[in-house]
Amino acid sequence: MSFTWSDFEQKITAATTSTDLEIIEHELFGRKAGLLTEALKGIKDLPAIEKKDAAKELNIMKKKFTEMIAAKRTELGGGSIDAIDVTLDLPKKQRGHHHLIPEFMRQIEEVFGRMGFDVAYGPEMETEELNFNKLNIPDDHPARDGQDTFWIKGVENTVLRTHTSPVQIRYMQEHKPPFRMICPGKVYRKDSDATHSPMFHQFEGLMIGKDINLANLKAVLVTALRELIGRDVEFRFRTGYFPFVEPGMEMDMMWQGDLEDSREGKWLEMGGCGMVHPNVLRNVDIDPDEWQGFAFGFGVERPMMIKHQIPDLRAFYEGDLRFLRQF
Ligand code: PHE
Repeated sequence: MSFTWSDFEQKITAATTSTDLEIIEHELFGRKAGLLTEALKGIKDLPAIEKKDAAKELNIMKKKFTEMIAAKRTELGGGSIDAIDVTLDLPKKQRGHHHLIPEFMRQIEEVFGRMGFDVAYGPEMETEELNFNKLNIPDDHPARDGQDTFWIKGVENTVLRTHTSPVQIRYMQEHKPPFRMICPGKVYRKDSDATHSPMFHQFEGLMIGKDINLANLKAVLVTALRELIGRDVEFRFRTGYFPFVEPGMEMDMMWQGDLEDSREGKWLEMGGCGMVHPNVLRNVDIDPDEWQGFAFGFGVERPMMIKHQIPDLRAFYEGDLRFLRQF
């Protein structure tokens, strides 16, 4: 070994940072290859007459280095518990988090996932065929007016999808029933006010089996939404028309909470739902005499407005951190 113990005395004296000290400490006292540790372990192999002196000398060294290191540590002012001022006000670490919309969509996937729903996604640029025709909305159908949207220039018969319902078609083309799936995503329409934005989010649900009925639809929706909102909110279903379901319904949720506003106690529409129309099943080669089921398409922002008492949906998109950081 090409060192002398006094090398270490010098090293300790010369140390300028607590990291230097830690390295020296490790070289000496490290549990595996520390020089002093090894030397102390080696005593047992020495001839009997040397043992006593060697042990005495090494223990003096040990004490000396321990004291020197402790003194140096105090001098450097770091590393020892006494040197930390726990009352010191440290700058707060800024931690990022998801925007509340993707966060809520993740929760939607989780809650429906626990109910056995598969998660599916589809493209935001969609063909007219899937966005409308296959959903039983032909060219000249007046229902198209309600979802008049953005057509893609230069790409024939292509729209920014007006709803997540085309994912129903995509899913049914690829899977054999029975199945249940949920699809969260962005959708686009031409309107904009306090409860409408030209881009918003929906989640679609689809459940097909031999005897899936409206009672199942209601049970699934009410259970999932109550869990997502985290309170016992009030719902109502009323008949509603969508070409791709029969019968069709709309579900409303009541504005309840601390929103001191004329809206309190009024209903807010969450989305549409109903039993999948036999024509839609035929369009994807599923026999409507053998299979039946429900579909729903809900806004993501709407339940969140109720959940967090947010009166204007545009707040979600303004990127104002004072708003976003509250969640
Ligand atoms: N796609 C419809 C909409 O966006 C909602 C809906 C989905 C209605 C599924 C019924 C069934 O308005």
